[in-house]
Amino acid sequence: MVINMLIGVGLGPGDPELITLKAIVALKKSDRVYVPGRLAADLVAPYADCEILDFPMTKDDEVLNKVWDRNAEIVAGDAKDGTVSFGLIGDPNFFSTFSHLRRVVHDRYPDIEITTIPGISSITSFASKTGTAIDSSFEVRDSTPINSKIILKARNPRDIVDSLESEGFTEFIFAERLFSNDETIIADKEKIPIKGNYFSIIYAKKGNENQEYLNG
Ligand SMILES: C[S@@+](CC[C@H](N)C(=O)[O-])C[C@H]1O[C@@H](n2cnc3c(N)ncnc32)[C@H](O)[C@@H]1O
Repeated sequence: MVINMLIGVGLGPGDPELITLKAIVALKKSDRVYVPGRLAADLVAPYADCEILDFPMTKDDEVLNKVWDRNAEIVAGDAKDGTVSFGLIGDPNFFSTFSHLRRVVHDRYPDIEITTIPGISSITSFASKTGTAIDSSFEVRDSTPINSKIILKARNPRDIVDSLESEGFTEFIFAERLFSNDETIIADKEKIPIKGNYFSIIYAKKGNENQEYLNG
């Protein structure tokens, strides 16, 4: 494994049989594994020793900033000369503790490579458990405004981008045949092609917050 690496490892929804093989390999190979709570610790236990980091549930910004700072320093301290996994429930890129952690670590320690391993999210787990099939557009939200969109079946990506731009979206990622040998990921809007494959996605975002997906 690469030295100087932090991996956000999705552990799935809580069923020990719903962890990916890739997650297990990462946990086994890591020099250190951290988790945000007991449920995640129990899922990691068959594969690695881990330490629970405290992430108190509070909206107090002062407390929160101290928590992020402290936990980022702990994680980065090990990731500076080794591979560290941070295991979490669901997926590391959807409403996840890891998103905040990686932002702080990246700002302070840009030399640490940060990547993620997807996990089965509560969103798809819910659908499976309840027999709910979603086959048309839907919303996933918490109390924050909708700031991004994902368009599936992006066969006409340029047209989609033009239409989303008129709705106020400013940043776009075109992704085709992900995890295959023909994988294509284009984050430069001008390079997004006119025609796309059926297995394609456009991600659109408002604002100009820095995208770090290329690292993870
Ligand atoms: C901080 S978010 C974590 C989401 C997670 N990263 C994911 O990909 O599912 C926490 C929210 O996810 C949802 N959630 C996570 N696990 C769940 C479960 N086992 N059952 C129901 N909802 C769950 C709840 O809405 C909860 O408030």
